[in-house]
Amino acid sequence: MSSDKGFMFNWVYTEKVKEHFVNPRNILEDPDYPDDGKGMVGSMACGDQMMVVIQVENDKIADIKWKTYGCASAIASTSMMSEMVKGMALEEAYMLTPQDITEKLGGLPEHKFHCSVLGDKALRAAIDDYLERKGMDNPYKKHVARIVCECKGVTDQQIEQLVKDSKVSTLEQLQSETGLGTVCGKCKEQAEHMLHEFLHMYGR
Ligand code: FES
Repeated sequence: MSSDKGFMFNWVYTEKVKEHFVNPRNILEDPDYPDDGKGMVGSMACGDQMMVVIQVENDKIADIKWKTYGCASAIASTSMMSEMVKGMALEEAYMLTPQDITEKLGGLPEHKFHCSVLGDKALRAAIDDYLERKGMDNPYKKHVARIVCECKGVTDQQIEQLVKDSKVSTLEQLQSETGLGTVCGKCKEQAEHMLHEFLHMYGR
């Protein structure tokens, strides 16, 4: 569009998201930043690469920097995430979920939720890298929930809990409880498989 007037954003983002997008915190600017751990996820080919670097002191995140080629949602969520985890124990930071970050941002448009998983994925990769450099086993890995439906942010632990609580026994019930599979649908097959495993596991 040629005129400013024609170039109108229909912002569907919250004020917090806009604010973090326009003024992102903790961007990596120093090419010689002395990191203790570095995590890189996504791919340049998809245009959504994300890098997170951390400094660690006494098992806590002393500092964090990041850079991305991601979209507004990825920028805002990683900016928010970087503020949330400063000073946080590694274990707690490792457990951080995209939902925790999105909540702090006051929500993200549904179809943009998957962009918010980049930052915390890269953070976990940076913590993995830190522990590897130290020659330590990762004690946190086994506690981490894995996202099954990226569009709705539904994790394997949520599905397991719903089965445990006898709230779902079919894919349709799971969909109406969580919204899983109702956007792009690519997670449905895997979710159904997982659901059957949990049903079997809990004798339902
Ligand atoms: S990943 Fe798109 S609907 Fe689940």
